[in-house]
Amino acid sequence: MDKVSYKDIGLVTTTDMFTKAMKGKYAIPAYNFNNMEQLQAIVMGCVESRSHFILQVSSGARKYANQTLLRFLAMGAVGMIKDANSPVKFALHLDHGDTFELCKSCVDTGFSSIMIDGSHHSYDDNVKLTRQVVEYCHANNVVVEGELGQLAGIEDAVSAEKSTYTKPEQVEDFVKKTNVDSLAISIGTSHGAMKFKPEQCTRDARGVLVPPPLRFDILEEIEKRIPGFPIVLHGASSVVPEYVQIINKNGGALKDAVGIPEDQLRKAARSAVCKVNIDSDGRLAMTAMIRKTLAEKPAEFDPRKYLGPARDELIKMIIHKNKEVLGSAGQA
Ligand code: G3H
Ligand code: 13P
Ligand code: ZN
Repeated sequence: MDKVSYKDIGLVTTTDMFTKAMKGKYAIPAYNFNNMEQLQAIVMGCVESRSHFILQVSSGARKYANQTLLRFLAMGAVGMIKDANSPVKFALHLDHGDTFELCKSCVDTGFSSIMIDGSHHSYDDNVKLTRQVVEYCHANNVVVEGELGQLAGIEDAVSAEKSTYTKPEQVEDFVKKTNVDSLAISIGTSHGAMKFKPEQCTRDARGVLVPPPLRFDILEEIEKRIPGFPIVLHGASSVVPEYVQIINKNGGALKDAVGIPEDQLRKAARSAVCKVNIDSDGRLAMTAMIRKTLAEKPAEFDPRKYLGPARDELIKMIIHKNKEVLGSAGQA
């Protein structure tokens, strides 16, 4: 297969986005996608709210949708934005890359940003693997996100039994030795829709689970050691309670679903956190509308009739996140 550069497709890296986000005290949203409707919603929501964005593809998404088709969908998104005469730009990003070979394959097929997640390895092996990926990526003008510390939560390919917070005393050395462009850290966020066990939470007056607060003290310590360096938050869905309610009211069984409250994400977005990863909330928004539509119209069997409302809800959710939570709206 011929090598394709992201530049020829019309994609950008995250470098300028992060510089502006750091200065402007907001964060760039990183939305995962696996199919056409999710991609349409991400593009339409970000164009409508005039926000640059990062389009994330996990290895699971590549397997599900076919890696070539997924890439061509992303290329189609560039055309959609152009047709809309929008100033919005996006990076095509590999989420949780776990091997050098996978990262290289993405660089060679048009990705502009790569995450190498060596967080489950020993510190030295993480440094070694990350540095190897950085060398290849930088030679191709592609940016790299590394990770230090492990998030809790179970989600297909991404799992870690317990959260291990990032050790601030390691970040300077890691950044220096690997030459990464951004760093994902663990300060109490978690992947998936069940981010915390009920026993880790308190309950508010209505009995709703309230998760433990993020460790902003660790984030501040990290910022002191690598000032101005772009930080990434994974596992940053709010697990929107309204969506969980709609799902459960319409035949779903999401028990004890709990996410990161919006005010904590707003606070993080004003700090050195430049990229905020959101996947689960998009899944919940679509599932809520699909369940609701099919429950209300049991005779419906045209996928457009339930995927359409699901896509509309995802657009609404994305505009809300960009405007009210991350502050990226209007910045493109
Ligand atoms: O952090 C992981 C993302 O939510 C991707 O999840 O591996 O199920 O595609 P996935
Ligand atoms: P959520 O499961 O909280 O959406 O996190 C997604 C993520 O971190 C993708 O890398
Ligand atoms: Zn993640």
